[in-house]
Amino acid sequence: MQTRTKFILAPMYEVTDTVFRRLISELSPPDVFYTEFVNVDGLQSKGRDAVISKLKFTRKEKPIIAQIWGSKPDNFYKTSQELVKMGFAGIDINMGCPDKNVTKAGLCSALINNRELAKEIIDATKRGAGKLPVSVKTRLGYNSVDYSWHEFLLNQGIDTLIVHARTKKQMSKVPADYEAIKEIVKLRNKISPNTKIVGNGDVFSKQQGIELAKKYKLDGIMIGRGIFKDPFVFSDNSPWEKLSKKQRVKIFKRHAKLWKKTYGDSKPVYILNKFCKIYINNFDGAKELRDDLMKASSIDELISKLKQI
Ligand SMILES: Cc1cc2nc3c(=O)[nH]c(=O)nc-3n(C[C@H](O)[C@H](O)[C@H](O)COP(=O)(O)O)c2cc1C
Repeated sequence: MQTRTKFILAPMYEVTDTVFRRLISELSPPDVFYTEFVNVDGLQSKGRDAVISKLKFTRKEKPIIAQIWGSKPDNFYKTSQELVKMGFAGIDINMGCPDKNVTKAGLCSALINNRELAKEIIDATKRGAGKLPVSVKTRLGYNSVDYSWHEFLLNQGIDTLIVHARTKKQMSKVPADYEAIKEIVKLRNKISPNTKIVGNGDVFSKQQGIELAKKYKLDGIMIGRGIFKDPFVFSDNSPWEKLSKKQRVKIFKRHAKLWKKTYGDSKPVYILNKFCKIYINNFDGAKELRDDLMKASSIDELISKLKQI
């Protein structure tokens, strides 16, 4: 019997932090949350304090999976042990990030070409994770589609394989290729029938996700940028298009207040500009209002501007 498709909020650096996740849980929650990617080498170093806040979460953001990346298997081991104690529901290893700084160091998507290290990282994470499920989020390949990579991953006894349906080389420049995931599902059926396959890329509504999951026999769908177009993307019947200016401003105000409560003045307010673009949209005068809100030089100023609307 086919079980219901799991809908997952994708990890997005400087987007899906505890504040945004909490807001999404109030609007229309996914089945599973992810943290932004967290560097295990940073976490296990003197720079720990700069990284640890990314692992903050509240009751509202559950179940939540921690996504980690890094270079040293021992740091994956130590971090995984800590994540168990922190109450995460699972641990995901990033083997898909295409960022130049990361790939130059041979990490994340570059691990597609270094299976020895990839295996050491997965083994160390599994050892540290104990009974907690371990997953890998990756791409279709490095320069081209490479099923030997997925075959390799499926032989590592992972709980879930999340496939962003593009190669590293394609970045996000071409449409996601779900046809290419078909082969990975076939490999899964042959090599590791208990591993779940989650598809990711270009899903902008729950209905679209349900149709893709049915067509390609996926266990789950992960949505990233879809949340920028519709913060209610995990809802069966999103009200987003019909929300008034007042309702949209109210959501941004809630976000800004949660941000203030969580971080105080410790982070620059411009980080909230990307959220301003999400909420302050689709009504007369939205652009002018956005331009004004983005001029705020502190979180207090932003909240005060929002209160005056
Ligand atoms: C701003 C931004 C930050 C991202 N940060 C991460 C990250 O920390 N870890 C990760 O695995 N993927 C990250 N991604 C990739 C997304 O998780 C996702 O795989 C990609 O956006 C494709 O899915 P989508 O079309 O639903 O957005 C990021 C994407 C964006 C746009």
